[in-house]
Amino acid sequence: TWTIGNIAEEQIERVREQIGDHRAICALSGGVDSAVAAAIVAKAIGDRLTCVYVDHGLMRKNESVAIEKAFRDSTGAELKIVDAEKEFLDALAGVTDPEEKRKIIGREFIRCFERAEVEILGDSDEKVAFLVQGTLYPDVVESGGGAGTSNIKSHHNVGGLPEDLEFELVEPLRELFKDEVRAVGSQLGLPDEIVQRQPFPGPGLGIRIIGEVTKERLDILREADAIAREEMTKAGLDRDIWQMPVVLLADVRSVGVQGDGRTYGHPVVLRPVTSEDAMTADWARLPYDVMERISTRITNEVSEINRVTVDITSKPPGTIEWE
Ligand code: XMP
Repeated sequence: TWTIGNIAEEQIERVREQIGDHRAICALSGGVDSAVAAAIVAKAIGDRLTCVYVDHGLMRKNESVAIEKAFRDSTGAELKIVDAEKEFLDALAGVTDPEEKRKIIGREFIRCFERAEVEILGDSDEKVAFLVQGTLYPDVVESGGGAGTSNIKSHHNVGGLPEDLEFELVEPLRELFKDEVRAVGSQLGLPDEIVQRQPFPGPGLGIRIIGEVTKERLDILREADAIAREEMTKAGLDRDIWQMPVVLLADVRSVGVQGDGRTYGHPVVLRPVTSEDAMTADWARLPYDVMERISTRITNEVSEINRVTVDITSKPPGTIEWE
C-alpha cells in the first residue's frame, strides 16, 4: 500500500542512490517545500548535505530566527546562514519599481548562494554539486515534464550561475502534491511551524512596501504584520485563510488624530484571501471583531501608522500581493 511512511522511505532510498557519496546543497526559503525536500535528503546523506539560508533582511518579525531554529532542531541538518541584509538593502536603495525590486532581490540571492557554495566546497576537487529543490508534481506538470520522469537527471543552471558551476538536480517531491508534502514533512519530524506555514513570497516584505524599501520602513511593517498575524492566530483563522499580506503604503500619508494630537501617518492594507492554489483568490470575509482588534492594536502600538484598511478585491482582477 501507498502510505506516507513508505513515500518518505522510498524517496530517501532514491536520493541515497542518486547522490552516492557526493555532496549536496539546498537553498532553504523558509517555505514548506524546500524544508521537506531538505529533510528527506538529510535523512539520506546526513552531513554531506549543507543547507543555505540567505537572510535578506526582508523577512517578517523574528521569522528568520524561528525558521533556523525549527529546521535545525528537527532535522539536525547542517545549516549555513548568510546574513546579507546590508547587501540587499544597499542594492534596493532608491528602487520603487516592483519588477526591478524582484530582479535585484533575485540577483543578490544568487550572489549569496554562489558565495556560500564556494565556501562549502572549499578546496575539494568536486566540480558537480547536487542541488536539492522542492519541485512538486503540479510544478512538473506545468512545465511539461509529466509523470514518471523522476529518475531522469536534469541539468540546470540556477538563474545565471556560470556554466562551469552546473548542478545536478535532486527533486524528491516531484511526485507529490502539497498535502502529501506536508504529511511527509510531519512524518520526518518537521514542526507545524514549518509544515503548516502559509505561502510567503521569496522577495518577502520587499514587495509589500509600496515605494522604496528601507530598514526603517521594514521595521514599521514588521511591527504591524506581527500584530496582524498574532490576532489571526489567536482567532484560530490560520487554516481558513490562505494568506494575509500586510502592505505598507509608504509614500501615502493621511491626517489622523491620536491622543490629543494631529498625526500625519501611513496606512497599511490588510489583504486576507482564501484560495485553492493562488491562481485565483477570493477576499476573505474576516470577522468584524478580529478586524477591529487588528486595527486598534496597530494604530495604538505602531506610531507611524494611523489608518488600517482592508482590500476587498478578488483575484482576478487584483493579484494577491500588491506588487
Ligand atoms: P500573486 O501576487 O501573483 O501571488 O497573486 C500568488 C502567490 O505567489 C506568491 N508570490 C511569490 N512567491 N516569489 C515567490 O516565491 C515571488 O516573487 C512572488 N510573488 C508572489 C504570493 O505570496 C501568492 O501566494
